[in-house]
Amino acid sequence: MKKNIAVIAGDGIGPEVTNQAIKVLNAVAEHYGHDFNYSFCLMGAVAIDATGKALPDETITTCLESDAILFGAVGHPKYDNDPNVKVRPEQGLLAIRKVLQLYCNIRPLSIYPSLAHLSPIKEDLLQGVDMVVYRELTGGIYFGEKHTSGDGFNATDTCNYSVAEIDRIAHLAFKNAQIRRKKLTLIDKAHVMETSRLWRKVVQEIATQYPDVTVDYMFVDNAAMQIIVNPKQFDVILTENMFGDIISHEASALNGSLGLVPSASVGNITALFEPIHGSYPQAAGKDIANPIGSILSAAMMLDYFQLHEEARRVREAVSWTLNNKFVTKDIDPINFYFTSTLGELIADYVGHRITDEVNHENIELRKSTVI
Ligand code: IPM
Ligand code: MG
Repeated sequence: MKKNIAVIAGDGIGPEVTNQAIKVLNAVAEHYGHDFNYSFCLMGAVAIDATGKALPDETITTCLESDAILFGAVGHPKYDNDPNVKVRPEQGLLAIRKVLQLYCNIRPLSIYPSLAHLSPIKEDLLQGVDMVVYRELTGGIYFGEKHTSGDGFNATDTCNYSVAEIDRIAHLAFKNAQIRRKKLTLIDKAHVMETSRLWRKVVQEIATQYPDVTVDYMFVDNAAMQIIVNPKQFDVILTENMFGDIISHEASALNGSLGLVPSASVGNITALFEPIHGSYPQAAGKDIANPIGSILSAAMMLDYFQLHEEARRVREAVSWTLNNKFVTKDIDPINFYFTSTLGELIADYVGHRITDEVNHENIELRKSTVI
């Protein structure tokens, strides 16, 4: 299979983790006989530095011509504490979501038993946790009308949703529930917000078309608590943009590291794959970031290409590294491996280049030295 992949490495740890995902995709291409071509483009702070724009036109063109997009992260501390900045790195990400109509953001959460001790949640509550968040990505308060009054004493963000916007993501979420545990939870604030009442109405109607799926409705404040006290009750979570942002980050803490969680953003044109972590500037350039979120995002891309066996192999490789304690610093601050080493190991496993002798002793040299 031949595929063109646009790569937007972005800022901070983005380039380091994305490089590991590319190593893994190359191992897939070599082993299974595919041809993946990469076009590298700019977005975020690096794009602002180079072109003055967070999302240059050239990047949009390349993405539109590609079969999929592999994205790292955007963000730079020099913009974070300055509310007066006009062009921000994050605008690039918001703009690409809008331009490509990437309306459905899918964030799956799996628990790795070997990492259960790192979770802030007790181990018995974690057993059997397997959920996926369907977050609406191109509407709501993120994209509604925004305004700051002339005197600077008043600011407004508007939350807006249309039936069509709710409808298209709801069908994707219901279809996924049908091939999972057949449960869907709509998270909203329907006792307070008009938009949430519209979500409930539309989802209630759509639910009649999926009689095999059990539907639950939950207010977002309760959901925030339920994810901690009883996370295994969730299968597919469906929610609007802002609630989805917050809930998916909360859920990602359950497995012990934000660095492990991948995501896919799909629309009608092409799809974008990115780890859910941010640009983590403190770790940039140190070869210590966890590349697994990016590598698992590449696995989601393979599934999107209908290369399911290849995707399964990548996930197996990730589990193999975690089970054998080949982990980055976020997982084990003392005995950790570098980002690049982990990428090579996972790529080698995918390409069947790992022999039985590979263990902690004989790759000790590629391991970190703690000072
Ligand atoms: C995410 C991020 C983005 C969002 C930011 C960087 C704009 O937090 O993808 O979760 O809020 O959607
Ligand atoms: Mg977020």
